[in-house]
Amino acid sequence: MARNHNLNLASQGTSLKALFTGYLVVVAVGYLMAIVQIQLTHGLADGKYGLSIDDIVYSYYGNRSNSLLENKLHGSMKPMATDDERAKIISWVHAGATEEAYENDGIRQIFDAKCIVCHNADAGGAVPDYSDFKQIKERAVVDTGASIAALARVSHIHLFGIAFIFMFVGLIFSLASGVPKPLKVTVISMPYIFLLIDISSWWLTKLNPNFAWFVIIGGGAMALSFAFMWVVSMYEMWILPRYREDNRDALLDE
Ligand code: HEC
Repeated sequence: MARNHNLNLASQGTSLKALFTGYLVVVAVGYLMAIVQIQLTHGLADGKYGLSIDDIVYSYYGNRSNSLLENKLHGSMKPMATDDERAKIISWVHAGATEEAYENDGIRQIFDAKCIVCHNADAGGAVPDYSDFKQIKERAVVDTGASIAALARVSHIHLFGIAFIFMFVGLIFSLASGVPKPLKVTVISMPYIFLLIDISSWWLTKLNPNFAWFVIIGGGAMALSFAFMWVVSMYEMWILPRYREDNRDALLDE
């Protein structure tokens, strides 16, 4: 095809468009999975479906009127044992969670039968090993939310991982020719600014529950800029060229 090749998404060849599209589609599915995962962990922190401010507060600041063990048994760990077994564990927690009662009152049997399948030494990461009584005991006292170690781990993974994703999404979007410069610069910078706001708010929420709002605002703004870059890039690659040739230069005609 004898056509002018300009520096914009619409006039790239099909192979580069296929590469960009493949990446955008897979990253979008990854984003959806992340949302499902958030609903299934943090979303259940208050025992109800759907992500709310309470969920964020409980996850980072903790539900300080209760222990993590009890909170989880009302939340994401609810399906893991029968109502009767959960009630037994909870009354054991209320009675002081002693090792003696754990061994002698049938609590260990419940953990062995219902929890150790997942909570064992090989699980690693977010799933503590409950064959070690100390790990259970720590979670039977007042819930102060995510530990500093967990926050540090999840923070650095998110900072590196999400910055990487937005590097490529932003690079593809920077080749879009139909977006005015101020809007483009804003949309490209937004994910980075709000990623920092989001993650620093996890730490701040641990200190003060009011910062939970910034976690929601940060995450929401990141998702919005992702959706905008995604839709515009796809449009300029696949729909715009059907109507006309695009001879603008996305990087130089600013
Ligand atoms: C099917 C696997 C599985 C089973 C069975 C299971 N858990 Fe979990 N548990 C997980 C996963 C995954 C997480 C991390 C995600 C989360 O917090 O929801 C977790 C997290 C927890 C936490 C929070 C740990 C922390 O420090 O953040 C507690 C408390 C907990 N489980 C208690 C239990 C109890 C009590 C049982 C048995 C009645 C149980 N779990 C059975 C998979 C399981």
